Amino acid sequence: MDSTKLRFFAPCPSGLEGVLEQELHDLGVPMTTKTDGGVAFLAPWSSMYWVNLKSHIASRVLWEVGQTPYLSEDDVYRAAYHLSWPDWFTSAQTIKVKVSARRCPLTSLDFITLRIKDAVCDKFMAVRHKRPNIDTHHPNIRLDAFLDESTVTFYLDTSGDPLFKRGHRIVSVEAPLRENLAAGLLRLAGWTPNDVLLDPMCGGGTIPLEAALMARRIAPGQSRAFAFEHLIIHDPKLWGHLREASRVKQLAEVPAAIYASDQDPAAVKIAQRTFQGAGVAIDIRLKQSDILALEAPAEQGVLLINPPYGVRLNRPEELDAFYPKLGDWLKQRFNGWRAYIFTGDLRTPKLIGLAPSKRIPLFNGPLECRLYEFLIVSGSMRKTIPKPDKRG
Ligand SMILES: C[S@@+](CC[C@H](N)C(=O)[O-])C[C@H]1O[C@@H](n2cnc3c(N)ncnc32)[C@H](O)[C@@H]1O
Repeated sequence: MDSTKLRFFAPCPSGLEGVLEQELHDLGVPMTTKTDGGVAFLAPWSSMYWVNLKSHIASRVLWEVGQTPYLSEDDVYRAAYHLSWPDWFTSAQTIKVKVSARRCPLTSLDFITLRIKDAVCDKFMAVRHKRPNIDTHHPNIRLDAFLDESTVTFYLDTSGDPLFKRGHRIVSVEAPLRENLAAGLLRLAGWTPNDVLLDPMCGGGTIPLEAALMARRIAPGQSRAFAFEHLIIHDPKLWGHLREASRVKQLAEVPAAIYASDQDPAAVKIAQRTFQGAGVAIDIRLKQSDILALEAPAEQGVLLINPPYGVRLNRPEELDAFYPKLGDWLKQRFNGWRAYIFTGDLRTPKLIGLAPSKRIPLFNGPLECRLYEFLIVSGSMRKTIPKPDKRG
């Protein structure tokens, strides 16, 4: 099977499609097409295993099992019935059908979901005389269908739980970033394992943890389960080889220092436990500190800051007083560093009094955010700040 190229789609948080495509190329998957919300790729089955195991940025890997034009719900039913579901999983597995659509002319997505579920179960009854049960909470197998104005595409989800669930987070802090968003921010910031990293508002430690995993080449999916393990065509031997191939490439230590801190002792404790659980506690120099008390730990490096912002945490007036101090702190102590601030507060450049050299639009769930880049060079940043446009 492994010489055959199959079609897959890896969704990701909006705004990370470009860095996901780069990551797929780095993972040896060259045949990619970037679209809104993810990257399609053509690759052998083994690449599906590899991307599930190694991608820091993809949210899932969906295997495209069919695509067909449609006009009505009956067409969707027939197209779903036509597919060889009993060749891919058994009636002993529980299933869930999820439908999403863009510009679909049919009126009810719930009804389409029901028709696809009927088609799959009818097919099983016809071929195996037994149908799989539905489990909408913890299904073994997730079937996805996507409808545009004229075409329905069917997918089998090979990941199961979304890939940002690495299995490391034991307890959560308030407003944690999703792991794949944190990894995407590191890529967008151009951070590489050879750069010193400082996250001085680390909360539960999502950003330094992703950095440490990348730097040590520890696969983010190393210790979790995947939906493909339930598929009939799963190849446990090949999967075992790939996991082992990844494991032997792990490095014993990070090439450059990773620093993390937070003013909140409870957050620091949670971060500490999470780093220990992921086996990277020795790689991250973690301490409790107010950000403004920190000195630059190296002559150069990358600062990645995810401050609290009004919508989710703190009151806007507190932040208004804090941001100018943050700007002074950067200018006075981080000469030579590249600083990145990820925030939903589009007034940030104005409030900190620094001109960003880049502003990258991103979404944190439904919240529109920016990743601002500030190149801290003495003197040069004190110029007048250009008025931010309405979109920040
Ligand atoms: C949005 S959260 C960061 C979440 C983090 N990226 C994660 O994924 O868990 C902001 C963090 O900033 C911390 N914080 C707020 N003011 C601070 C200050 N003056 N110095 C250091 N940390 C501060 C808060 O305790 C909180 O953990």
